[in-house]
Amino acid sequence: MSRASDKSDQAAPSAPENSGGPKHVAVIMDGNGRWAKARGMPRTLGHRAGVNALKRTVEAAPQFGLECLTVFGFSTENWRRPVAEVSELMGLVKLYVQTDLDRLAREGVRVRILGRRDGLPPDIQEIVERAEAKTAHNSNFLLQVAFNYGSRGDIVDAARKFAIQVRDGKADPADLDEAMFGSLLCTAKGPPVDLVIRTSGERRISNFLLWEAAYAEFVFQNVLWPDYGPEALSEAIEEFRRRERRFGGLDAHDVLAAG
Ligand code: FPP
Repeated sequence: MSRASDKSDQAAPSAPENSGGPKHVAVIMDGNGRWAKARGMPRTLGHRAGVNALKRTVEAAPQFGLECLTVFGFSTENWRRPVAEVSELMGLVKLYVQTDLDRLAREGVRVRILGRRDGLPPDIQEIVERAEAKTAHNSNFLLQVAFNYGSRGDIVDAARKFAIQVRDGKADPADLDEAMFGSLLCTAKGPPVDLVIRTSGERRISNFLLWEAAYAEFVFQNVLWPDYGPEALSEAIEEFRRRERRFGGLDAHDVLAAG
């Protein structure tokens, strides 16, 4: 990630080429367990390898012209996993922040954690807050980690917030529109999602960014998450570029044909 760290008096590196490419990519990092199983290893080692894949991907993202990467680190449904696996995932997010926060901060990356904070153990809440506070003024790149996140839950939380505003006389139901509702979601401060990637060959959205991905492109890749990195990201971006995004309208050719 060289854009932010290049403070020498050499000419600034040219901006990455990203015409027509996605600015905000969201990733369902799937396949850690299968990766480990294929190697006769415990699932926990798959998750550890998954952290390395995350590091490679975050490092590469700005070089592809991305401005924001959102990753699904732990879903509200993941609490159903065995206690040891849950505790491994909690430990990994902690370790990731401990080992990478200073570098991310130096490189101008802003870190934001999406999801229900109050459901996290106190030490994770503390580390999440530290990561956000330390990077709050950075603007080169936004890394959003969805942790204890579920999109339906977030939508319900937003509806509850609005209901409370109405009850307290601070909002009028007649004024509610998509923009106002979107501003109540935990993703409100991030840019629109252009591309959702899911690895491991599964083709489900699994309660991730249901509202935010309404007009996103979806790319499903067979690679297992621990094997992910710049090459696979580049392929997904190329696939995105081949798509034609119409946002419910018509493409230019069809507009002409329709007269
Ligand atoms: C899905 O693989 C992956 C997860 C449930 C967690 C993703 C977590 C990481 C990449 C590492 C830790 C995260 C952070 C943010 C530091 P799976 O276990 O469902 O794989 P499987 O479908 O092959 O069993």
